[in-house]
Parts: sequence; C-alpha cells; structure tokens
Amino acid sequence: MQERPFGRSTSPVPVPVIGLGTWQVFDVDPEDQPLVDAVVAAAVDGGTRLFDSSPMYGRAEEALSSALAGYPRDEVIVATKTWSQSQALAEARFDAQLAWFGGSIDLMQIHNLVGWRERLRWLERARADGRVRSIGATHYSPAAFDELETVMRTGRIDAIQVPLNPHEREVERRILPLAQELGLGVIAMRPLAEGVLAAIRPSPEQLAALGVASWPQALLKWTLSDPRVHVAIPATRDPAHAAANAAAGSSPLLDDDQRALVEQLAGVR
Ligand SMILES: NC(=O)c1ccc[n+]([C@@H]2O[C@H](COP(=O)([O-])OP(=O)(O)OC[C@H]3O[C@@H](n4cnc5c(N)ncnc54)[C@H](OP(=O)(O)O)[C@@H]3O)[C@@H](O)[C@H]2O)c1
Repeated sequence: MQERPFGRSTSPVPVPVIGLGTWQVFDVDPEDQPLVDAVVAAAVDGGTRLFDSSPMYGRAEEALSSALAGYPRDEVIVATKTWSQSQALAEARFDAQLAWFGGSIDLMQIHNLVGWRERLRWLERARADGRVRSIGATHYSPAAFDELETVMRTGRIDAIQVPLNPHEREVERRILPLAQELGLGVIAMRPLAEGVLAAIRPSPEQLAALGVASWPQALLKWTLSDPRVHVAIPATRDPAHAAANAAAGSSPLLDDDQRALVEQLAGVR
C-alpha cells in the first residue's frame, strides 16, 4: 500500500491510493448486506483503506458502517459527507454518522458545497474537538469550480473531491494546480466515468504495453499517475472488481507514453 500525506491536515491521515466509492452500489436493502460485506472484504484484502460515502447515497452509509464493523476502526479511513439544506438536519445526520462510524469521521466533506459557509464554521468546531479529523469539499460539475476555488482559498479545508478520468479533465486546468499550491488532499471521483470507460476492450498487446492485467486497472492508474491526485475511488458492487481495482494502486503507475495510450484507447486523442 502506498502512502501519501493527506493534504494540509494537521492530522497526518496516511492514505492508500485506491479507495472505494459507494454511490448507487451500496444503496441496498438490509437483506442484501452480504453483498456489501463481500465487496468491502475484497477491497480491504486488496489493500483498500479509504471508503467514500454520503447521506445522498440512500442506505449506503449505514450499509458501509455495517460492513466495516468487523475491522479495527483505526485501520480504515471513513470519508463521508454532509449534505443537508439546514444546519439542524446536518447535525441530526451527523449524530447518526458518528454512531455508525465509531464516534469520529476521518474526512467530512461538504457535498456539492451545499450550505458551505455555515457547514464550514460548524465542521471547524467538530475538527477542533476531534469528532472530525479533516474537512473536505466536493463538486462533480465544472460549473461549480469557481465556487470550489473560493472554498479552497479560504485555507480552512484539508481536501477536495473532484471528477478525473480521460473524458473529464477540467480539473487539470485550475483546480489541481491550486490544490497542489495549497497542499490539499485530492480524491478523484468517477475514475471509470461511471463505468462508461470500463466497457472499452483493448487488445492483450495493448494491456501488456500498459503493464496491467485489465483495462479498468489502466484507467485507475491513469488517474493516480497525476502526481496531484492522492486517492481514486472507483465504485463497484462486484467483489472481483473490488479486488482488481485495489491492485491498481500498486507500483508502477503509468509514464507519459502509457498515459497517452490510455487517452488514445479512450478515444480522446
Ligand atoms: N461528490 C460527488 O458529487 C460525487 C459524484 C459522483 C461520484 N462520487 C463518488 O465517487 C465514486 C465513484 O464514482 P461513480 O460511482 O460515479 O463511478 P465510477 O467509479 O467511475 O464507475 C462505477 C462503475 O464502474 C463499474 N466498475 C467498477 N470497477 C470495475 C471493474 N474492475 N471492471 C468493470 N467495471 C467496473 C461499476 O460496475 P460494477 O458494480 O459492475 O463493478 C460501476 O458501474 C462514487 O461511488 C462516489 O463515492 C461523488
């Protein structure tokens, strides 16, 4: 497992490079909990330690907490979010989140920047008293990157979460350079473009040139090869995919020629 310091946080959360996303895939009925347990077990066995969720993802946080219950709390990194229109609702959800995740959240992200000024003041207090270790901000849309930049420049957050894959590279222009300048942690969401890019079928020779066993691994390595990115969080409901994705975090990553080949295969060159 590779480790990199997680942004400017005073809590030096060491992070693995492959995390696990939970949007859609972990919003399951209680009787399907064994599926979530199997995905988490495969991810952890493969070296994944960071798990990303949100109140926006239906039952995903609760299902994730149940799946993580068998692991020592200090061996996993819980990155979840606050996503409420009112402060009262955010705090009520926070009580549930603390109960699910052992009394502290490693990275609490302001999802889609909803109510960020008020949430940030509150989360700074939660960080000061240890209920939250690091604060982040997320947005999926380039239309919100001006506002995301404003939040980053406050100097009050530790990390951001933004989309990055060969089809979504807008963050390369301003957001990633600013994150690097400010020393912020960067989590790359949608590294497989919601699965669209995973459907491409390169030849065995092309996979060999990329040094990977599978095409999704090449895509994950493409995202992680950007030195300004700390974690990629592919989502899956398939334990075999979770294991294969976790393996993409091991060295070597891709050189410039290999990155160009991934872009060509993804149809952007
Ligand atoms: N903050 C935000 O606004 C925001 C927005 C979007 C996403 N996110 C976060 O980022 C995470 C990842 O983004 P995402 O879920 O949108 O998309 P993604 O991770 O790019 O793609 C997920 C899709 O890829 C497939 N997949 C995963 N591994 C695979 C493999 N090895 N081989 C083939 N297919 C594979 C999955 O299907 P299978 O189940 O069949 O594997 C799933 O359909 C989310 O889960 C969420 O945690 C945050």
